[in-house]
Amino acid sequence: MTTTAAVAFAQENQGRFVGELKALLRIPSVSTTPEHAGDVRRAAEFVAAELTRIGMENVRLIETSTPEEVIVDDAGQARMVPARRGHPLVYADWLHAAGKPTVLCYGHYDVQPAEPLDEWKSPPFEPTERDGNLYARGAVDDKGQMWMHVKALESLMAAGAGTLPVNVRVIVEGEEEVGGEGIAAFVREHGEQLKADVALVSDTEMFAPELPTLCVGLRGMIYTEIEVHGARTDLHSGIYGGSAPNPFVALAQVIAKLKDEDGRILIPGFYDDVQKPSADELKAWRALPFDEDHYRESEVGSIALTGEPGLSVQERTWARPTLEVHGMPGGFIGAGAKTVIPAKAVAKVSMRLVPDMTPAESFAKYKSYVESLTPKGVSLEVRLIHSGDPIIVSTDNEYVKAATEAMREVFGKETVFVRGGGSIPIVGDFVRELKIPTVLMGFGLPDDNLHAPNEKFHLVNFHRGIESIVRFLSGVGA
Ligand code: BES
Ligand code: MN
Ligand code: MN
Repeated sequence: MTTTAAVAFAQENQGRFVGELKALLRIPSVSTTPEHAGDVRRAAEFVAAELTRIGMENVRLIETSTPEEVIVDDAGQARMVPARRGHPLVYADWLHAAGKPTVLCYGHYDVQPAEPLDEWKSPPFEPTERDGNLYARGAVDDKGQMWMHVKALESLMAAGAGTLPVNVRVIVEGEEEVGGEGIAAFVREHGEQLKADVALVSDTEMFAPELPTLCVGLRGMIYTEIEVHGARTDLHSGIYGGSAPNPFVALAQVIAKLKDEDGRILIPGFYDDVQKPSADELKAWRALPFDEDHYRESEVGSIALTGEPGLSVQERTWARPTLEVHGMPGGFIGAGAKTVIPAKAVAKVSMRLVPDMTPAESFAKYKSYVESLTPKGVSLEVRLIHSGDPIIVSTDNEYVKAATEAMREVFGKETVFVRGGGSIPIVGDFVRELKIPTVLMGFGLPDDNLHAPNEKFHLVNFHRGIESIVRFLSGVGA
């Protein structure tokens, strides 16, 4: 049987698969940093070359860009938004399984910045194996998990003498970590080129080690900047301290009014459209193996957890919106001391959204509230950087069943259904534009340090992931 042969092929080639992944991880494809644009493209070419080598067809890079446009802002002012050169998509397909469903395999080859670098035990772009883990930026988010798809396809191709048990399209993006605008535009404009019956996404986590997990909901997000201007130029803080406005103090005053001590967001009407999880969901979440002290100590590593009282960690992180401040660029941040009142300050602030909140309405409420808080003596601008919808995926379909069966065979356990607190913006577009279900089958672990120093992939899960995907694709084709 080809499934058995494909699984055997994957097992025999484990060492090579990891070696190839290391080569991909050495490319610092940080999508947010303009200096890395060439590296991002190299990573795309690396993935495309491998898809070609394993026998996928119509392999190509799809350029993404947004044209120059004129927008009219709230004040009626026309503003020019410059053209943007995006990072390419990688596309491939194999569509010769007549009468079988088509699976759209999605992943992303871009990564988050690796900073702070001195926190890494081995350099972020020199993949290093320690204790059965592969350490590198992007190891699990998402190069390693995307590579599982490629390697599952290779294994099936090898076992099937150049054929697959289902039709497959592959789309891999290079802008997921910066909001995924390019792929969203492609899906809106050329959705028919991704026509499929189901999307398979491996970019989430397992709830616990050894516990096969399907993610059935993701939070959405709006990522914003607040820019505050005070004096015309930086000023001596002794000469002018006492008369000149300070943009950082102004920002601090604004930020302090965004959330109360219990973690409740104070933006008027922000919770209006928040949908409560069903009683069944809450019951299932309570039954998950979870030790809050262990979570606090070893995952979060803080002296206390914060958030809305009376709600579990799962409810707070999966089914409630949140608001976070990521950084406040500006002013003097070098070593030593400089006595200055900066002329300008910025805060990067994002909010996670849950069903049925929408990015547009949430941003409008936030913007008008922040503007209403503008302290005396400063001007303030609120900008939207990117956004994505929250989603819930349906579980009553044959694809979810195929996924749980595949993972039962690999892990010997029943799959748990969880939601994720993170966001994958394109999944909402798969649901809305392509009108297909999505299977979120991820193999990260809670301690894999996504977006943080010492990101890793537990290699056992890399191999189990490949086998699960082989079995899933075979199951869908059966
Ligand atoms: N893979 C993550 C999202 C994720 C992680 C979902 C774990 C569920 C569990 C993804 O790469 C990610 O980090 N997305 C960004 C999206 C944002 C920049 C629009 C995020 O969630 O911050
Ligand atoms: Mn990811
Ligand atoms: Mn990520």
